[in-house]
Amino acid sequence: MQNFVFHNPTKIIFGRGTVPSIGKESAEFGNRALLVYGQNSIKKNGLHGQVVASLAQAGLTVIEHGGVCSNPLLEHVRAGIAKVREHDIQVIVAVGGGSVIDTAKAIAAGSPADCDVWNFFIGKQTLKTALPITTVLTLAATGSEMNAGTVITNEASKGKFALSHRLLYPKVSILDPEQTFTVPPSYTAYGAVDAIAHVLEFYMTTTDEDVPVQAELMEGLIRNAMQSCERCLADPCDYGGRSALMWTATLALNGLTGAGLGQTAFPMHMIEHSLSALYNVAHGAGLAVVIPGWLRWRLPQDAARIARLGRSVFNLVGGTDAERAEQTILAFRNWFSKVGSPVTLAELNIPASDTSQIAANALTLARLWRLDAYSQENIEAVLSLCQ
Ligand code: NZQ
Ligand code: ZN
Repeated sequence: MQNFVFHNPTKIIFGRGTVPSIGKESAEFGNRALLVYGQNSIKKNGLHGQVVASLAQAGLTVIEHGGVCSNPLLEHVRAGIAKVREHDIQVIVAVGGGSVIDTAKAIAAGSPADCDVWNFFIGKQTLKTALPITTVLTLAATGSEMNAGTVITNEASKGKFALSHRLLYPKVSILDPEQTFTVPPSYTAYGAVDAIAHVLEFYMTTTDEDVPVQAELMEGLIRNAMQSCERCLADPCDYGGRSALMWTATLALNGLTGAGLGQTAFPMHMIEHSLSALYNVAHGAGLAVVIPGWLRWRLPQDAARIARLGRSVFNLVGGTDAERAEQTILAFRNWFSKVGSPVTLAELNIPASDTSQIAANALTLARLWRLDAYSQENIEAVLSLCQ
């Protein structure tokens, strides 16, 4: 195991009936709030009213910034920054899934800055200060509620880039599994795929093999993501299933799994971000296509590791490592399909002839993330296994 520092400052308030504490928790950071949310889900299911009432009761003045779309856009972030400056906002309250929380983080980063917020995403400038963020999570998927990352799409340059900085950890996140009862089956499955992908990125790219605690933790998280997703699909109001999926997704990307692994990388996300940027594909759906292809591309070097995963997650035994690794990849692909995710580029309506354009887009991110092994040719090779 490698040396590590694990310091996650986000306070998690988990469970039934926790939403009304958002007002009091947010008031710790100021009395003028920007309320960030998505299209219409929180108005439809009544959460918007609950949050507004709680904020008002705690004495906060609220300016609204709704309309965040899935794969959130830079222009909408900039509009939020303008509102923060105009209304002298002190705290950002995000109520939604990863797209909403990421938008809130980008607004929190850009508002106090004397440069355009995109400069932070392209590594041109370093974040020095950010507004505090509180969240009410409504979708189990990204882990944004307990991590320092935000992912935003620049619609002009077709780049979907990430910014990660310790100043962007939410101060407080409220996780009430009941708020996810209304998540449709498609996004329930995409969320589970995303959580699995987050674990897989660490599991597959660790440079230290002697990490038994982390390995078991990660295998357990993958099993739980799958089991809880199936429970939620069978009964969307299964509190036990929703709470297990929610906590699994949070733990999958809050820094814990990566502790002690040394240098790791996010190559599957690097490629998926191009699918989302170019075709507005839902993040988890894009990952369900990329994961089996990428694993197959890595199989010659990583058969033993993939085989171990297959034994732990799918109870695969017997045969050589290479044979079991093949079966593991197929088992993941079949499971993604079973829960309603696309598993090929064709199912996303992306023609094979677009491969080189997608690879060129991904290459920009590969360079920014210093994934030197990923040339245009190698990314195309992965994509050819996603057909
Ligand atoms: O917009 P509304 O009406 O709220 O509907 C949303 C949206 O259509 C709906 N939804 C959310 N909660 C709901 C609900 N519908 C009914 N009931 C509820 N309780 O679900 C749809 C998807 O929401 P979105 O926030 O886009 O999904 P997700 O949480 O999967 O976030 C995806 C975004 O996060 C980024 C992705 O790239 C993508 O842009 N990621 C962020 C990460 C991070 N910050 O750490 C890491 C991830 O790898 C990922 O890249
Ligand atoms: Zn992800």
